Amino acid sequence: MQIKDKVAIVTGGASGLGRATVELLLERGAKVVIFDLNDAQGQDVAKTLGANCAFAKVNVAEEDSVQAGIALALEKFGALHLCVNCAGIGPAEKTYGSKGPHSLANFTKVLQVNLIGTFNVLRLAAEAMARNEPVTEDGERGVIVNTASAAAFDGQMGQVAYSASKGGIVGMTLPIARDLASYGIRINTIAPGIFNTPLMNAAPDKVKLPLIEATQFPKRLGNPPEYALLVANMIENGFFNGEVVRLDGAIRMAPR
Ligand SMILES: NC(=O)c1ccc[n+]([C@@H]2O[C@H](COP(=O)([O-])OP(=O)(O)OC[C@H]3O[C@@H](n4cnc5c(N)ncnc54)[C@H](O)[C@@H]3O)[C@@H](O)[C@H]2O)c1
Repeated sequence: MQIKDKVAIVTGGASGLGRATVELLLERGAKVVIFDLNDAQGQDVAKTLGANCAFAKVNVAEEDSVQAGIALALEKFGALHLCVNCAGIGPAEKTYGSKGPHSLANFTKVLQVNLIGTFNVLRLAAEAMARNEPVTEDGERGVIVNTASAAAFDGQMGQVAYSASKGGIVGMTLPIARDLASYGIRINTIAPGIFNTPLMNAAPDKVKLPLIEATQFPKRLGNPPEYALLVANMIENGFFNGEVVRLDGAIRMAPR
């Protein structure tokens, strides 16, 4: 599907990988609505990026909030073709440790935002996409891109909730592709390694440096535009469906 003249929502689009995706989609001629909890930053980014970019304060984990965001996208830009899920949180806590067992509330929160939030947005986006007339010869109506993590496969100590949430995103990719095939909607998932974003920059050097060392080549953090390039290819390449792709400089993360 060509990106030009399509309408996209990007969750977590106020920051990091989401923001880089918003910028690339706009560069390629899309209209984009940023869904983010961070009101001030979301408004600011949308204003900076111009008239083809709008902001909706959305909590991906809440049904009404996402519905209102999708209604805004439809009202402002007339349709919805692309949905990129980048909103996520990544706190660290061990299953059991010196402070006792993992807080069940914290585990639930990570699953709520990362896994259920992703599903909540894409199921409602699919409803809007299904109403589109096909836009390609193949009959495509929409494309969804999700964000998992290398931690879905080699989660480190303290990443149990995060890895479970991202593993869920990996696991649901193929069944969603199957569910949405008859509507002409494709879905793929990117599993990033370590990228240079505010989320990662919040980690101390003792966490970051070994991760850079474990990245085989190139020996650096990924740059958010490199993530956005793969999103664009997943949208533009009509045969790309039901797949999970690691984008990680060949990192395989050690236990810590
Ligand atoms: N940066 C990395 O190294 C890396 C690696 C692997 C996976 N990821 C994943 O990529 C995605 C983007 O990460 P990032 O590094 O750009 O993070 P980031 O913190 O820079 O951006 C995440 C954005 O999501 C928003 N957000 C959080 N909870 C939300 C909610 N409930 N509803 C709506 N918006 C919400 C935040 O306000 C923020 O703007 C996340 O899902 C993250 O788990 C990142």
